[in-house]
Amino acid sequence: MLLDGWGVGETHWGGLAQKAKVKSEWLQPLPAAFTAAQAMALGTAGCTAMLCVMALEAHGVTPDKGEILVTGAGGGVGVALQLLKKLGYRTVASTGRASEADYLRRIGADTILDRAELSAPGKPLGKERWAGAIDSVGSHTLANVCAQIKYGGAVAACGLAQGLDLPASVAPFILRGVTLCAIDSVRRPMPDRLIAWERLAELIDLSTLDAMSTTLTLPEAIGAASDLLAGKIRGRVVVNIARQLRS
Ligand SMILES: NC(=O)c1ccc[n+]([C@@H]2O[C@H](COP(=O)([O-])OP(=O)(O)OC[C@H]3O[C@@H](n4cnc5c(N)ncnc54)[C@H](OP(=O)(O)O)[C@@H]3O)[C@@H](O)[C@H]2O)c1
Repeated sequence: MLLDGWGVGETHWGGLAQKAKVKSEWLQPLPAAFTAAQAMALGTAGCTAMLCVMALEAHGVTPDKGEILVTGAGGGVGVALQLLKKLGYRTVASTGRASEADYLRRIGADTILDRAELSAPGKPLGKERWAGAIDSVGSHTLANVCAQIKYGGAVAACGLAQGLDLPASVAPFILRGVTLCAIDSVRRPMPDRLIAWERLAELIDLSTLDAMSTTLTLPEAIGAASDLLAGKIRGRVVVNIARQLRS
């Protein structure tokens, strides 16, 4: 079985345990395409990225409409680059780490954008640049992204890496018909989760997923948490709870 979201490891104990007592309705079948480790390399970030892509599709953002911007691309939700690429979109990865450009291209980025271009206070409307966007950053970045979406486009917002605030105006919504799609994967109803994981199984290239993920032992997890908050970790980290020490 597979469990992601539902607050496990966040508001419920058991995220890093070999056994946990959880509600049966939180469990879903592990797709046959993935081992347990591969499913956790995707984890909540992978499911969230898929739900973001599905939101763009549902709002008519098709590959012919133009480029899709993915912010916070060096992090876990950056797996969206791989999904978008497989679906035929042209992708732009916004990152603060120019040193990760090769990595981002390997996982699906066509173009790299310095995140500094998006992170400062901006105008209510900017040049129409992106057909759609997946934003895991929030704050001024999300405001600027909305201001740069082409007429009729959509933004799937799922995160707050820059901040919880949204210092934006209504201009993109009322003047360009831009849609801001709210993506929550923690309490997302099971029918949508099943579809998201089915689609991940169809779209994910396992060797690219391997390139995105690092495996740690349980004692290494605490140090890795500090590195994650300091923005030093790229992609995904899997904690192998069966291994106490690196052999
Ligand atoms: N809505 C939901 O259900 C849901 C589910 C999963 C995650 N989330 C949220 O989505 C966000 C991303 O999750 P994740 O797993 O991808 O996290 P992550 O692995 O920690 O990645 C976050 C990325 O954001 C960028 N970033 C960090 N600080 C920033 C700043 N001050 N300004 C701009 N960019 C910054 C960095 O990318 P670069 O180094 O490439 O710039 C970093 O790698 C988090 O806020 C998380 O809480 C929400």
